[in-house]
Amino acid sequence: MDTLTKTQASASTDTFPIKGTDYIEFYVGNAKQSAMYYQAAFGYKLIAYKGPETGSREVVSYVLQQDKIRLVLTAALSPDHEIAKHVALHGDGVKILALWVDDAAHSYQLAMDRGAQSAQEPTVLEDDHGKVKVAGIHTYGETIHTLVERNDYNGAFLPGYEARESVYPVKPVGLKFVDHCVGNVELGGMNKWVKFYQDVLGFKLLITFDDKDISTKYTALMSKVVSNGNGYIKFPINEPAQGLKKSQIEEYLDFYHGAGVQHIAVATDDILFTVDQLRKNGVDFLYVPEVYYETVLDRVGEIDEDLEELKRLNILIDRDDEGYLLQIFTKPVQDRPTVFYEIIQRKGARSFGKGNFKALFEAIEREQELRGTL
Ligand code: FE2
Repeated sequence: MDTLTKTQASASTDTFPIKGTDYIEFYVGNAKQSAMYYQAAFGYKLIAYKGPETGSREVVSYVLQQDKIRLVLTAALSPDHEIAKHVALHGDGVKILALWVDDAAHSYQLAMDRGAQSAQEPTVLEDDHGKVKVAGIHTYGETIHTLVERNDYNGAFLPGYEARESVYPVKPVGLKFVDHCVGNVELGGMNKWVKFYQDVLGFKLLITFDDKDISTKYTALMSKVVSNGNGYIKFPINEPAQGLKKSQIEEYLDFYHGAGVQHIAVATDDILFTVDQLRKNGVDFLYVPEVYYETVLDRVGEIDEDLEELKRLNILIDRDDEGYLLQIFTKPVQDRPTVFYEIIQRKGARSFGKGNFKALFEAIEREQELRGTL
């Protein structure tokens, strides 16, 4: 049974208003090449840059955008920089999940009063295009939430960045916005971090999945989904559960050396087009066997899309009380089996594809087996 509790708080009861995801920043080994990958494979456009040519002596960052999704790819220019150390330990990975707020100093103070750990005191950044106020708090692992107030800024991204355009002929693939970001935490850490989001950021517990919901013959995990007041921010938090073999969450924690962002789900309103384009661009996805499509309609009922086309693209389908959803998962997007993407199209459904968990986790296990980490 899905334990979806419909707790969309109204604005008046939202104790920590967040307007949306501002950006997601990766620390990577080679920002220039990563930026090319996101342009060529995922159809993001380059919009801003900072580096030695713009006066940034230690760090290079490329900012990419597709509709409402903004990614920042940052690398260090020297081996003793904290970003270089972060990459040496974790590999390429998500460092910052930035939240767009109306008042960064007030939000920061509220979070601190409720027990957050500071990552950056409120700071005003300024250039010819105006002012942005930022502050930061720590979340799981070495991940940070930067709080961004940009009521008074019309530059390309943030002060310190210069506007840039892609030289590569980018073709957008229809990615629209960040639907949810999933964190993997250590055994026993899930409830702690759920409580953090509830107590500090005023999030509500949306769904609980126990190890009976998410298990295969070999491995299991547990997950709870928290969401902010307006529902724009959804953070599922996973922890490993006892199974016969090593779970995908343990594999992640081993390779990432701690808790961190596992996957970013991005929404499209035409998943057939989006996935077709991504496949043509060389993005590789987890494979679900054809037998999945023999019975899927018995489970999900009538859908608008052509099943043969969904099967050709290997897109998964699930239904809840409010509608259905279409989803697909990429393989990890860096050498270590850590961060990957989900492409999702919601047609009424507000859940996360529980009906696909088994097929999905068996697909991940086949990959783990190839890596020798199951
Ligand atoms: Fe997801």
